[in-house]
Amino acid sequence: MSDLTLHSRIKDYTVHFSNDFAFFEDMGDIRPRAVIIDKNVYDLYRDMLRSYFADGEIILFEAREENKTIESCLALYERIIQMAAKKNMTVISIGGGITQDVTGFLASTLYRGVNWIYIPTTFLAQTDSCIGSKTSLNFKSYKNLIGTFYPPSRIFIDPKFLGTLSTVDFYSGIGEAVKFQLMKEEKQKDIGKIKPVMERALKKDETLVDLIRDNMQVKIAYMENDEFDQGRRNLLNYGHCFGHALETSSDYQISHGIAVLIGIMYANILSNMRHMLSDALLKTVMEEILLPNNPLKLDPGHFNGAALLEGMKKDKKRTGDLLAVVMPDGNYSIIKVSDVTDVEFKECLKRLNHMLFKEA
Ligand SMILES: NC(=O)c1ccc[n+]([C@@H]2O[C@H](COP(=O)([O-])OP(=O)(O)OC[C@H]3O[C@@H](n4cnc5c(N)ncnc54)[C@H](O)[C@@H]3O)[C@@H](O)[C@H]2O)c1
Repeated sequence: MSDLTLHSRIKDYTVHFSNDFAFFEDMGDIRPRAVIIDKNVYDLYRDMLRSYFADGEIILFEAREENKTIESCLALYERIIQMAAKKNMTVISIGGGITQDVTGFLASTLYRGVNWIYIPTTFLAQTDSCIGSKTSLNFKSYKNLIGTFYPPSRIFIDPKFLGTLSTVDFYSGIGEAVKFQLMKEEKQKDIGKIKPVMERALKKDETLVDLIRDNMQVKIAYMENDEFDQGRRNLLNYGHCFGHALETSSDYQISHGIAVLIGIMYANILSNMRHMLSDALLKTVMEEILLPNNPLKLDPGHFNGAALLEGMKKDKKRTGDLLAVVMPDGNYSIIKVSDVTDVEFKECLKRLNHMLFKEA
């Protein structure tokens, strides 16, 4: 499969597609280097990884949301300095979106920026987070509050890593994959075709890489000319306004992608309440695409209005007093509204709860 080259104001970078981990063979010449690896990935692929990287250049990282902090980053600077690292070093990052965010931030700040290469190992990271240049750290209860724009020079996608992902972690990527398929420009989009695409993804067969590439192209279309997220790229936050609040208020028991999936439900209900999305389209997308792709038995306790409203108000992209939500209009084109009142928020949440838990 051909490479994708992405244009960035910082530096252009390339996505390579691989299978059977063939790309590791070409990494021998990259030195000096430090290899930051998600500890779970290391445990699963230890023999293979140790055949390419020496113990002394490997740093293991526990990929948990509470470790996506400046403190973790300081500990990593410490380890890398001990390796006598210089400005000409390359940081190789292997893991999911958490490992990517921390390593990317580290690479962007160490010596004001060192070269880094990213090997995403989750479906979410392969289908979404690996492109777009963003690096992020959480601060206190604020998710992704600290961050930079700093793309890796190269990204290697190998779906073979996805074979060991837990079902919930795999579905987390499905949330973003569904989002991209729903965000395709109107002329290419056919809601009816999305369901089979998702069924195919769950088979995790060799065609998964086509879906990953297709999703990347949707993301690239929204990022074009707006790398730094001042306008159109903001629409990629479809599902995220409510989703981020849900992730935090559930203490991360609802993972990012599932929270996004539920955030898409929330946004669609809001659009319907505003007489944009028709009852029929709301129902089709909800019943055929969104609900069947949620593997979790949801806890109604995580849908507490006060905590979610507080979370929505902390949204770092909110500029006015009212709430902002990215949602589809009547033609399923994605738009952003910034005038959602607390009353409207609560009514929309009530309808979401009813759909999820069939409560009054
Ligand atoms: N920078 C961006 O543009 C961007 C975009 C979207 C999301 N994110 C961030 O990504 C994070 C979520 O990332 P994620 O869902 O990729 O997961 P993750 O990094 O949290 O990993 C999920 C779990 O899967 C494990 N894992 C990773 N690869 C594995 C494999 N191949 N086999 C078995 N287990 C594996 C990890 O150890 C972890 O336990 C969030 O913090 C989110 O904010 C960043």
